[in-house]
Amino acid sequence: MRQALVIGNWKMNGSLQQSSELLHTIDSAINDKISAEIGVCVPFVYIDLARRVLGSSKLKTGAQTLSEFKSGAYTGEVSADMLTEFDCHWVLVGHSERRQLFSEKNAALVLKVIAAQKAGLTPVYCVGETEAEYKAGDRFKVIDGQLQGLLTNKEVDLKMLVLAYEPVWAIGTGMTASPEDAQEVHAFIRELIKNKAESTADKIRILYGGSVNANNAASLFVQQDIDGGLIGGASLDAKAFISICQKA
Ligand code: PGA
Repeated sequence: MRQALVIGNWKMNGSLQQSSELLHTIDSAINDKISAEIGVCVPFVYIDLARRVLGSSKLKTGAQTLSEFKSGAYTGEVSADMLTEFDCHWVLVGHSERRQLFSEKNAALVLKVIAAQKAGLTPVYCVGETEAEYKAGDRFKVIDGQLQGLLTNKEVDLKMLVLAYEPVWAIGTGMTASPEDAQEVHAFIRELIKNKAESTADKIRILYGGSVNANNAASLFVQQDIDGGLIGGASLDAKAFISICQKA
């Protein structure tokens, strides 16, 4: 049985005051009725704030990216060890915005996953096809390509990994993949894992992301291979985010 997981991705939004209010509001709304694990990936500069506000809360802090390097002359980068020092639990790797806007490639993303795991962080590795790839009927091929390097690397610990399927055309657009469409991809991803690591495939959590909101969350989460969500826009609205968590 896989425990549901909902992770908010704030992206580059908010101010110190807004972040503090949002963290307090979400934290105070979390109660025993929510059985899902919950995380929130905040901008680097608000990680310490999250650590102080959340303490030992059920809501765990995450980062949105990290460096594949341990330390050294990498101006602007943040290492896995730095993140664990501030009690980060999750870290997103290979979000489509990182892939598209910052040219992050699969090979480097696998190194980021390994660096995160070595430091004790759980990476959330994101995959997904663009609209053109979807229309060309290439989504399975694209996702396979994004996952092969990860699944064949012996240094990657599949037991300490979360995957997220986020069709690029659904991110921030209000266009969600239909639950059946998303389920088809999630089942495909689980099958790919099964081919590499039979015993892990049933345990690994695969989140769906892309315009998830309080109204469509339940129909997505009820799908057999959808184990929760990676939530962008709706995670900036405490009420909507909590409502999504309740549905997981
Ligand atoms: P969205 O973003 O929920 O705003 O579509 C999801 C994401 O980018 O992770």
